[in-house]
Amino acid sequence: MIDENILEVKSLSKSYSVYSNLLQLEIDKKIIFKNLSFVLKFNTSLGVLGASGVGKTTLIKIVSRIEEPDSGEIILDGKNIKEYDYKEFATKLQLLFQNSFSMLNPRYKIKFLIKERVKQYFKLNNLEYNKKIINQKIEELLEITKLPKTVLDAYPYQLSGGQKQRVAILLIISLYPKIIILDEPLSALDISLQAQMLNFFLELKEKFKLSYIFITHDRNLAEYFCDNILVLHEGGSYEIK
Ligand SMILES: Nc1ncnc2c1ncn2[C@@H]1O[C@H](COP(=O)(O)OP(=O)(O)OP(=O)(O)O)[C@@H](O)[C@H]1O
Ligand SMILES: [Mg+2]
Repeated sequence: MIDENILEVKSLSKSYSVYSNLLQLEIDKKIIFKNLSFVLKFNTSLGVLGASGVGKTTLIKIVSRIEEPDSGEIILDGKNIKEYDYKEFATKLQLLFQNSFSMLNPRYKIKFLIKERVKQYFKLNNLEYNKKIINQKIEELLEITKLPKTVLDAYPYQLSGGQKQRVAILLIISLYPKIIILDEPLSALDISLQAQMLNFFLELKEKFKLSYIFITHDRNLAEYFCDNILVLHEGGSYEIK
């Protein structure tokens, strides 16, 4: 299991068309990646580094099936990502966005948001559930994410930045994914919270045997947190460290 590749990206290419302002004719292609290949090993973290605009978000959009590549293939837990149905895919890979608050629908109390997710977990895995089982699961998840029970009665806007992020993580963890993609997960947090959050991610990694793709601008952070680093360069080249 340990040496297993949970994700294999094989010869991925992606370019965007560049249009002239006036006539909207395609005048050029901007190459984002060209034959990009890398693996993410089971229970490890891969950092993705690169200057702004180089294609980090594009890469995770492709890996999470929000966008299609021009060519190449992606194997997730032994199967091409195209072959997953939506539900099964959700149990394998989850994204924590830069702005995790966007995951929290402002109109609902946290309890409702968590309950819906937990139900989704039971449904996806064809497990029977009732109110008592759901409540137990919620308590367990709150404990793991070190959130007080009082957050359940709050609306998202009533939580602190750190709490919001923990709730977003709780929602992700509640589906027991194998891979979590973290897109600049610390950038919206106070410096004082960043180290705490980083250690929390490491704890979760061990507890749930997670693999992470960690997008960041910060080389030191990537070196501290990640087992391997993929550096993307302008024009489609890359290196793996
Ligand atoms: N849908 C699109 N159509 C055309 N060009 C796009 C599209 N999406 C992204 N791009 C371009 O692709 C390049 C890579 O964008 P991307 O968002 O992946 O960069 P990034 O590395 O995530 O940057 P940042 O660090 O600022 O978040 C940019 O030049 C961007 O303008
Ligand atoms: Mg980005």
